[in-house]
Amino acid sequence: MDFKGKVAIVTGGGSGIGRASAEEFARRHAAVAVVDRDREKGETVARDVKAQGGVATFLAADVSNEEEVEQLVARVMAQFGRIDILVSNAGIQRYGTVTTITQEEWDEVMNVNLKAAFLMCKHTIPRMIERGGGSIVMVGSVQSVAAQRNSVQYVVSKHGLLGLTRCIALDYGKQNIRANCVLPGAIDTPMLRRSAGLDPHPERVLEACDRIHIRGKMGRPEEVAHVIAFLASDLASFMTGSAVAVDGGLLVPVGGMAFQESGTGGTKDVP
Ligand SMILES: NC(=O)c1ccc[n+]([C@@H]2O[C@H](COP(=O)([O-])OP(=O)(O)OC[C@H]3O[C@@H](n4cnc5c(N)ncnc54)[C@H](O)[C@@H]3O)[C@@H](O)[C@H]2O)c1
Repeated sequence: MDFKGKVAIVTGGGSGIGRASAEEFARRHAAVAVVDRDREKGETVARDVKAQGGVATFLAADVSNEEEVEQLVARVMAQFGRIDILVSNAGIQRYGTVTTITQEEWDEVMNVNLKAAFLMCKHTIPRMIERGGGSIVMVGSVQSVAAQRNSVQYVVSKHGLLGLTRCIALDYGKQNIRANCVLPGAIDTPMLRRSAGLDPHPERVLEACDRIHIRGKMGRPEEVAHVIAFLASDLASFMTGSAVAVDGGLLVPVGGMAFQESGTGGTKDVP
């Protein structure tokens, strides 16, 4: 897999899965636009990529804000002249049920996890089509196809992201745009550790995050980034509209032996 001559935008590229994806594309010779609202983290990633001999630029933006999305896309075009790959990865995790969260808490998650992906696609797809096509990878979650207690706004936003992926695959397939959605299980990132920190016993949460996967260990950001890079590449030319689990077997139906043997009772309470 080589992305020489290609330009990739990675949203939420300053941390976790986004950071690993930006590094993966750069290692494989793409020019990478690292987009994040956290300036310090995003600048560090771009600087580290450049120190390794890669091509990267950092763009500060809140991707749930259309004006900022328009500006960042214009800046990528001005600097690199094309957009071939979009990894829509920026996301936040919040907790609650329909009766415990406020409208503002609902909107916050929908805006970052779902509206931002719509906005990024809206403004990058025309630029991709100008150059003959492109590939979009959405970072969904196992929560794109399964539910989790006390996480309604997150689960609904991630289900929506899979719907968005499928619509883009259908609406723009003839213009050579492919869109796929990865569904990570629990991945050891700052987000997951922040979530675990909300529990009075974070170590127990982390231990459960390991245990629920067939191999007994949660995923690493690079393990998701490898699949993202594959889906973005021409090797995945016949894949579009797919939901690709990168979950260590977490979505294997609970009746399956793997979960019974692990003794978890089929717990699915993961980020
Ligand atoms: N870590 C997991 O276990 C896990 C599992 C399934 C899915 N995911 C998904 O993977 C994606 C990345 O998660 P992560 O664990 O790497 O999280 P993370 O918190 O480590 O990184 C997310 C990055 O996104 C940035 N970001 C957040 N909102 C933004 C906005 N509005 N505009 C620009 N940047 C923004 C943050 O500043 C941060 O740098 C998310 O969409 C998350 O829902 C994570």
